[in-house]
Amino acid sequence: MNTDENRPPGTGANHPAASAVSETARTFDSASTDFDTLTPVLWGPAGQALVFQLGVGPGDTVLDACCGAGASAVPAAMATGPDGRVHGVDIADDLLEHGRLLAEARALTNIDFVCSDVTRWEPPSDVPEAGYDVLAISYGVFFLPDMDIAFSRLVGQVRPGGRVGVTVWRSESMAEMRDAVFDVASRHSPDFARRAPDYDHSPLRRIDTPAALGEWLGAAGTHSVEVRTLSNLIPATEDLCWALVAGTGWRTALSGLDAGQVASVRQDLAETITTRGIHTVDATTLVGTATVRRPPPSG
Ligand SMILES: C[S@@+](CC[C@H](N)C(=O)[O-])C[C@H]1O[C@@H](n2cnc3c(N)ncnc32)[C@H](O)[C@@H]1O
Repeated sequence: MNTDENRPPGTGANHPAASAVSETARTFDSASTDFDTLTPVLWGPAGQALVFQLGVGPGDTVLDACCGAGASAVPAAMATGPDGRVHGVDIADDLLEHGRLLAEARALTNIDFVCSDVTRWEPPSDVPEAGYDVLAISYGVFFLPDMDIAFSRLVGQVRPGGRVGVTVWRSESMAEMRDAVFDVASRHSPDFARRAPDYDHSPLRRIDTPAALGEWLGAAGTHSVEVRTLSNLIPATEDLCWALVAGTGWRTALSGLDAGQVASVRQDLAETITTRGIHTVDATTLVGTATVRRPPPSG
């Protein structure tokens, strides 16, 4: 799936950025079944909110980067209608397959789900020369190696006056669950502490408040920035908590464990959540949108 053609520019097969992308693809491919169980409560509301705030309308050409199973790409296809086009791009082909099936079930013929590293994406010939009308990235931008460079490159594929938007977790969202998951994983997998994602130094930390996200969007060559907070406080049922482990990037907590060990992790997690009195998963999300600047007149 991740061939040399879709690796980030200037990176070979052994480059850290290329191996990070391959690792992300592997994680989300193996998470695909549980990922989709989270769509109605997690990915779906944010995807719909992003498409609304972006103002996707009839006839728009939309790039949905890191589209996963289509949580924002499918609402975008419904907003743009038969005269528009949506390109959903992701590296996890198993997730894309869920999106293709959903689009087919809704009889949508204006959406393509393409397996590619979006940092290498080149708009195909059905995109107007000036660029896409809209760029949407829901919960994806912070996975991209060199986030700022990758985002600027994607913004460059949108026409002047076009719209760009991202969703990201708000600071402290998911924190209680993340602590529980990481503590449980460390008990069952001795090397987890070494390979656990370093949240405090992740790119997300730079854009997880309304002010920081707004500033970051503006710095990427946009104006009319709007950041809204989407409250999403989900009852912490045992099934939901498990889906958050098995169906997200946190799935790395399970790598190397056999089926019996995974079952023990699940039981330990359920007990930990009860002991800590966690009743709600805070999935509060920032929805940031902006308009791409027109270049200054030359001469
Ligand atoms: C948390 S999921 C969000 C998926 C979808 N936007 C949604 O809201 O349901 C993050 C997605 O980013 C994708 N992703 C990460 N790095 C990528 C890259 N370099 N190119 C394309 N997709 C990437 C992952 O495969 C995964 O599907």
